[in-house]
Amino acid sequence: MKVAILGGSGKTGRAVGAALAQVGVATRPLGRAAFDDLPAALAGADAVHVIAPNLHPDEPAYVTTVLAAAREAGVGRLVYHSVASPYVPAMPHHLGKAVSEDLVRRAGLDWTILQPCAYTQNLLPALRAAEESGVLEVPYAVDRPFGMVDLLDVAAATAAVLTGPGHVGATYELGGPDLVTIADIAAAAGVSARRVPADADVHPWLRAMFDYYDDHGLPTGGVPLGALLGRAPTGVAEVLRRELGDGAAGRSCQA
Ligand SMILES: NC(=O)c1ccc[n+]([C@@H]2O[C@H](COP(=O)([O-])OP(=O)(O)OC[C@H]3O[C@@H](n4cnc5c(N)ncnc54)[C@H](OP(=O)(O)O)[C@@H]3O)[C@@H](O)[C@H]2O)c1
Repeated sequence: MKVAILGGSGKTGRAVGAALAQVGVATRPLGRAAFDDLPAALAGADAVHVIAPNLHPDEPAYVTTVLAAAREAGVGRLVYHSVASPYVPAMPHHLGKAVSEDLVRRAGLDWTILQPCAYTQNLLPALRAAEESGVLEVPYAVDRPFGMVDLLDVAAATAAVLTGPGHVGATYELGGPDLVTIADIAAAAGVSARRVPADADVHPWLRAMFDYYDDHGLPTGGVPLGALLGRAPTGVAEVLRRELGDGAAGRSCQA
């Protein structure tokens, strides 16, 4: 089996490629240059995993291009990397994924849709800074619930979906084992948490996301991910221990 990974040179795509390699599947990581002739780039693949770039200005257009190319190249199996809670009109980049999900479901291909929550790994730069300052700073409320998920779990689940039977026509929300707040994550790293203003030049869609997080967080269930992995999803404290070592997560482990 050979899987073409659109966005394969990015953070998510590299993790998915490594997870597929672990189960002996050949991959073809594709970056933006593949879009010069996408049908040719996809030719010969058995499946395509579609990871749009972050904050693509028109994700439905990107997905439309990918679906047409997959059909032209004769690639019948497609897994689309969406996001948890895609239908949130207050968050334009989530809404772009909701519209894209509809395109995927109506494309006449054997599709699966994955809806991951925010990766725990997103917080690693801020947590590394907090090792110096003692404070984890984020531009949204620190007491709202999130289903933070381990990117490596998301990648392993993606590999399971691409290689196992029974996933065609399925949509899976992918959250971690528990709902956690930023304050919980800071406590797991032995630091405190504080909301700070967003940078003045932050992308307006990220500002909209921070406003939504301020009010609602991003709660996401962990049951589907556990079923796909055949084990409990990895908790925040374990991800921090693995990524930061005992220096951070070893100081206090409550999450
Ligand atoms: N971070 C999270 O917590 C999270 C959670 C759920 C969903 N997601 C979604 O995951 C997706 C990928 O995130 P990521 O952090 O892995 O992205 P990333 O590291 O920024 O990778 C972006 C990938 O897209 C390619 N790319 C960039 N511009 C492109 C263009 N104009 N046309 C086609 N391809 C282009 C890049 O190729 P080059 O190497 O050629 O530049 C690279 O392979 C996003 O859609 C995001 O919304 C993220």
